[in-house]
Amino acid sequence: MEGIRVENASYSYDNGYIAVDNVSLEIKKGENLAIIGQNGAGKTTLVKMFNGLLRPQKGKIYVDNEDVSNLTVAQISRKVGYVFQNPGEQIFNPTVYDEIAYTPRYFKLKEKEVAQKVQDAAELCNIIDYLKLNPYDLPFSLRKFVTIASVIAMGTEHIILDEPTAGQDLFGLEQQKKIIKELLKRGKTVITITHDMEFVAENFSRVIVMTDKKIVADKNKRAIFWDFEILKKSSIKQLYVSMLAKELAMKNNVISIDEFIHEVTKK
Ligand SMILES: Nc1ncnc2c1ncn2[C@@H]1O[C@H](COP(=O)(O)OP(=O)(O)OP(=O)(O)O)[C@@H](O)[C@H]1O
Ligand SMILES: [Mg+2]
Repeated sequence: MEGIRVENASYSYDNGYIAVDNVSLEIKKGENLAIIGQNGAGKTTLVKMFNGLLRPQKGKIYVDNEDVSNLTVAQISRKVGYVFQNPGEQIFNPTVYDEIAYTPRYFKLKEKEVAQKVQDAAELCNIIDYLKLNPYDLPFSLRKFVTIASVIAMGTEHIILDEPTAGQDLFGLEQQKKIIKELLKRGKTVITITHDMEFVAENFSRVIVMTDKKIVADKNKRAIFWDFEILKKSSIKQLYVSMLAKELAMKNNVISIDEFIHEVTKK
């Protein structure tokens, strides 16, 4: 199977703290999924194992059928791109251009091809005007787009976005929606960690819930957002629109304003 397969993976940090405990899952190439869950649940730790930034002490990770324990981080980074939760951990080049060009140059592409990759990624992330600037002169919200563009320019088939929605205004969220749509159109796998439940309801199909080092639910978004028990147990905010629909005893499990209006206005 092309995609990412996790078999009974556990990870503990050097201080002995177990952050991911015996997790298994399969993500097929081209899938669009969100990982949600309370702070400290283990989401970032889990996805960092997908591209070898962290290596599980127990269990296995397979990317496109290959056991990644046999591969270096550089080799895995040709397959899986990870946009860090904190841009400060990712950005190290003096200009936005150099930052996005870093991996294509590392892969020894010709400078003309590098320029095309930078152009494509920067256009998609709407940061073309900032290519000559130092990434650290940009506000946090734009810096996040620099990190997303860098990973898009890597050209990997699987892309992980760790908290892209944090600190974004409506314009930023709309831009991210466009990016995710375009990546899916290109056949990429998109795995997004976020605390923005409206963003999840709008943009993803499959939702994985992590609580206390484990996956506690893995279902389609409608099933997740109407599983009030799981949401409560996992300290996840219900969608207001679903809460309202429940209070009004609506028959269908709505998860968007449009669906709500449809229910209210249908004859
Ligand atoms: N380098 C580290 N050393 C020790 N413990 C760590 C380290 N990094 C993370 N942890 C701990 O591991 C647990 C899981 O962290 P992780 O970052 O994976 O959670 P998360 O689900 O991504 O949370 P958030 O939503 O806040 O980003 C947390 O309790 C965290 O404090
Ligand atoms: Mg995290």
